[in-house]
Amino acid sequence: MNKVNIFQTTPRIIMGTGASNKIADEVMRFSKKSVMIITDPGLVQSGICGRFEELLIKAGCSVHCFDSVEPDPPFEIASQAAQCVRDAGADLILGIGGGSSLDIAKVASILVTNTEPVSTYFGIDLVPNPGLTTILAPTTAGTGSEVTPIAILSDHHEKLKKGIVSPHLFPAVALLDPELTLGLPAAITAATGMDALIHAVEAYTSKNATSFTDMLAQEAMTLISKHIRTAFANGSNLEARAKMLQGSLLAGMAFANAGVTAVHAFAYPIGAEFHIPHGVANSIMLAPVMEFNMLGNLTKFAHMAQAFGENTLGLSERQAAKVAVESLRNLAADLKIPKSLSGFGVKAEDIPSLAKGVMKVTRLLANNPRELKLEDAEEIYRQVL
Ligand SMILES: [Fe+2]
Repeated sequence: MNKVNIFQTTPRIIMGTGASNKIADEVMRFSKKSVMIITDPGLVQSGICGRFEELLIKAGCSVHCFDSVEPDPPFEIASQAAQCVRDAGADLILGIGGGSSLDIAKVASILVTNTEPVSTYFGIDLVPNPGLTTILAPTTAGTGSEVTPIAILSDHHEKLKKGIVSPHLFPAVALLDPELTLGLPAAITAATGMDALIHAVEAYTSKNATSFTDMLAQEAMTLISKHIRTAFANGSNLEARAKMLQGSLLAGMAFANAGVTAVHAFAYPIGAEFHIPHGVANSIMLAPVMEFNMLGNLTKFAHMAQAFGENTLGLSERQAAKVAVESLRNLAADLKIPKSLSGFGVKAEDIPSLAKGVMKVTRLLANNPRELKLEDAEEIYRQVL
């Protein structure tokens, strides 16, 4: 049956080696003069923020910097960033970094133009006013945050990750320069790259997938599965970095519209409670969740094996689907991503409450290709303990 679908993405996407040199032109397009950079201390230290600052100052802008973003940022950091924007009187936000910095930049932009505290906006479509003009420059090939209307923040009191979903979170411009990702350490390249691949896999197998999101997700799966090992093994390979950034962008565009599914639902409780990095948590959960989900859509799982470059000639759909799951398992092993939760302090007695946490992520479970029950969630966690 035909459904009505909406497809939304960032209106302007600038991509390619040296794209960051266009920053001043982009700020000028909006006739803005006062820029607040939102980032983390590592990117200030690496000199990446300084490069942007220099270009903006040369063009006559005043530049301010909020560099207190931390991994899995608590929502209070978004309020602090917004206060800095107000105090400085900045009229444009430039988010530079991984998903945490980009998400804080997005949320700060809407906090400046809306009156309520950040907790009011957790949920879907609860933000009344558009945010301040925002430009996002990712430095990891991972979250795809530059093309999603979603920001994930941590609530340390409730030990939960919470999302704000609003079209007002799309930035005005995404600026993707693979040179910004050259210095990423191998382990972060692996974890963030797997997160991007999982966005594509989950968008492709989501119940909300459309032919449009399928096209983006398939290309993302092909690009990332082909280049992630090179980017991991030889981080200075600019071509691999460029293909990874392109893959994470396409995966972001796909999942922004089709949604992600149970792998992310399993990753959130262990991320919030045991501080397992997002990409690692997703990678650990990927194979067992995919094995469970496979029966929900054998045809798509079989197609995924082909996108991963596996030979499926003469195989049945079910056999090819298993090859896809195995291919993901081999990839995570090649990238030296931890396989189990116990190394992060998770114990058997934690599983019932973690599984309950999964069942609370109804926004994502609604997209899952196979219905998941509490006992399934417990069993899946047990498989990777
Ligand atoms: Fe993710």
